[in-house]
Amino acid sequence: MTFKKRTHTCGDLNISNVDETVVLNGWVSSVRDLGGIYFIDIRDRYGITQLRIVPENGEPYDVASRIGLEFVISSSGKVIARENPNRNIPTGEIEIDVSELTVLNKSAVTPFVVEEDIKASEELRFKFRYLDMRRKKISDNIVLRSRVFQTVYRYFDSEGFLVIETPILMKSTPEGARDYLVPSRIHKGKFYALPQSPQTYKQVLMVAGMDKYIQICKCFRDEDLRADRQPEFTQIDLEMSFVSESDVFNVCENMIREIWKEIKGIELESFPVMSYDEALLTYGSDKPELRIKGDMKITDVTGTVEDCGFKVFDDVVNSGGMVAGLKLEGREVTRKVIDNLTEYVKSLGMGGLAYFRFNSDGSVQSPVSKFISETVQNNIREKFDAKNGDTVFLLSGEKKRTLLALGNLRLKLATDFMLIDESVDRFIWINDFPLFAFDDEANQIIAEHHMFTMPKGEELYKLDSDKCDIETITSIRANCYDLVCNGSEFGSGSIRIHRRDIQEKVFNILKLDKQEVEQKFGFLLKAFEYGAPPHGGFAFGFDRIVATLCGTKDIRETIAFPKTTSALSLMDGSPGSVEQKQLDDLGIVIKY
Ligand code: AMO
Repeated sequence: MTFKKRTHTCGDLNISNVDETVVLNGWVSSVRDLGGIYFIDIRDRYGITQLRIVPENGEPYDVASRIGLEFVISSSGKVIARENPNRNIPTGEIEIDVSELTVLNKSAVTPFVVEEDIKASEELRFKFRYLDMRRKKISDNIVLRSRVFQTVYRYFDSEGFLVIETPILMKSTPEGARDYLVPSRIHKGKFYALPQSPQTYKQVLMVAGMDKYIQICKCFRDEDLRADRQPEFTQIDLEMSFVSESDVFNVCENMIREIWKEIKGIELESFPVMSYDEALLTYGSDKPELRIKGDMKITDVTGTVEDCGFKVFDDVVNSGGMVAGLKLEGREVTRKVIDNLTEYVKSLGMGGLAYFRFNSDGSVQSPVSKFISETVQNNIREKFDAKNGDTVFLLSGEKKRTLLALGNLRLKLATDFMLIDESVDRFIWINDFPLFAFDDEANQIIAEHHMFTMPKGEELYKLDSDKCDIETITSIRANCYDLVCNGSEFGSGSIRIHRRDIQEKVFNILKLDKQEVEQKFGFLLKAFEYGAPPHGGFAFGFDRIVATLCGTKDIRETIAFPKTTSALSLMDGSPGSVEQKQLDDLGIVIKY
C-alpha cells in the first residue's frame, strides 16, 4: 500500500507555517460534523492538529463522512489560520484545509475512548495498553523515560564507565525476594534464576579489572507488589574499583544532577548525608521525607518526663523505653482528628496517643495533664518550643518501635494537613546502616542490605565467632548507603567485601552451611582468591527516578507494558499455560 510520507508531525505546525502545503499522518482523535464542515483532530505522539474539510474539497468530504475514531489517516492540504484559535495547544492557531484524505487503516470501536481524562478501569487500560499509550499522559512518560535512559548512558560514558551486559539466565542472587526460575531442558531438574540484580556478576567484573561498570538492566523479583514495585523492573546498576563511599556518592549524585538539569532544567544542590541512627532519631525513618513544612522533627522528652507521676510514661522510662513526639504547628486539632490519629497509632501497635493542645487563647487541653505537674508540662512545652495554636503529640514505648511509629505519624500528619511541598524534590543520603538485622518472624539473623556488604573497618572484629551474640551482631554498622528522594528509596549500595575470609564470616553469621555456600557462592569466593580489588557500587531504581520526574508515585504509569499488582500481564495474558510437550521436554509435572 502506498501513502504519502508525512512532512510534519501533528505537534509541529503553528502560525509561521501558514500557506505551506503539508502532509500529516496519524490517528483520528475526534470527528465533529458542524453541518457542512467536518473538523477532524488528527493525533500522533507529538500532538494534535485540526483538519478542516468542506464539501467544496470534494472527495475528502466524502471520506470524512465515513471516518471513525482511531482510524489511521493521511491528510494533505494547506495550513490556514483558524477563525477561532485554541490557545491551549501549540497547534491551536492553525488548521489544515484538506485537499486529500486517505484512510490507511480502519479501527474497530475501541473499548474506551482514548482521551486524557480517561474513565476506563486500570484492567482495561492495561489490557489495551497500545490504546492507553496513545494518550499524551502515558506517551509523554514513555518519551521522558527514553530521555532519562539516554542521559544516564551519556553521563556514564563521559565518566569513562564501560557498559557491560550480564547474563539473564543465571544462578540465584539473594536480594531478599523469591526467584523467578527457568527450567533447563538440557540439564533436567536444574534451573536458572532470572537476576534479582546483577550483584555477583558486577563484583566478579571488578576482579576482572573492569574497574568502572554500568548497565541499565532488567531485574526480576517475585515479591509482594505495590505502587513502587514491579516483578520485573529496571535498575541503573554500577560498580567501581578502588573507591570509598564518597567516590560512589559523587558519581551517583552527579548522575542525578545531570538528569534533573536535562529533564527539569534544575540545578540541584548537593545532597545532605545522615547516618541511619540519626535518621531514625530525627525522622523515625530511614527514608525521611524532607519536603514537610517546618521539617517536623521528632523531639525526645524521655528525660523531661522521668518520674513525672504519669504511670504510662514512668513505666516506659523505667524499662529503658522512650517518650517522644511531634509538634503540629498552628493547628488546634479537633476531637475527631485526635480520635482518628489515636486509631492510627494503635494500628501501628502503640498503646495510645497523648497530646497537648496549646490553644490560641492560652489554655491547654490534654488528657494527661491531670497526671503531670505544671512544671513538667511547661518543660515539655519548652522542649517542643510550642506556641499558642500548636498541638504536640507524644508516643511512648520501646525505643525503635516508638521512633518508627512517630515516623509514620509524621507522614500521616503531613499528608492529612497537606504540609508536603510537592513543588520541590529533596534528596538525602542515608549511610552507616546496620550490617545485620534480627528477623523476629523467621527467628534468625538476616543481612540488612545484602550479604556482600563490608562492615565498617573498626567493627570487623565483631564478626569473630566467639563474640557472636545477637546484640553484638546487630550493633555492627556497615559501609552501606541509600539515596532517598521525597521519602522514597531511589537506590542503594555499599562498599563490598572483597576478601574470602570476611565473606565466609558473614555467611557463617547468617547460618549458611558450607555446602550451601559452596553451591551458591563458590564461584564468587573462588574469584576473591585471585586478587579481588577493594570495590563498591550502587543500584538505582530506574522506574522510581522516572516516576518522580513524571510527578507520579505509580511506576506502572512510566512502564510501557506493566504488570498488575498480582503480577499479570493483561495485554498478552502472561503467565499462561504451556503445551504438554514443552513440559515433557523439561521433565516437569504440574501437581495442581
Ligand atoms: P536493592 O535491592 O536495594 O539493591 O535495589 C536497588 C533499587 O532498585 C529499586 N527496586 C525496585 N524497583 C521497582 N520494583 C521492585 N520490585 C524493586 N526492587 C528494588 C529500588 C532499590 O533502591 N544489588 C543491590 C544494589 C547494590 O548494592 O549495588 C540491589 O539490588 O529503587
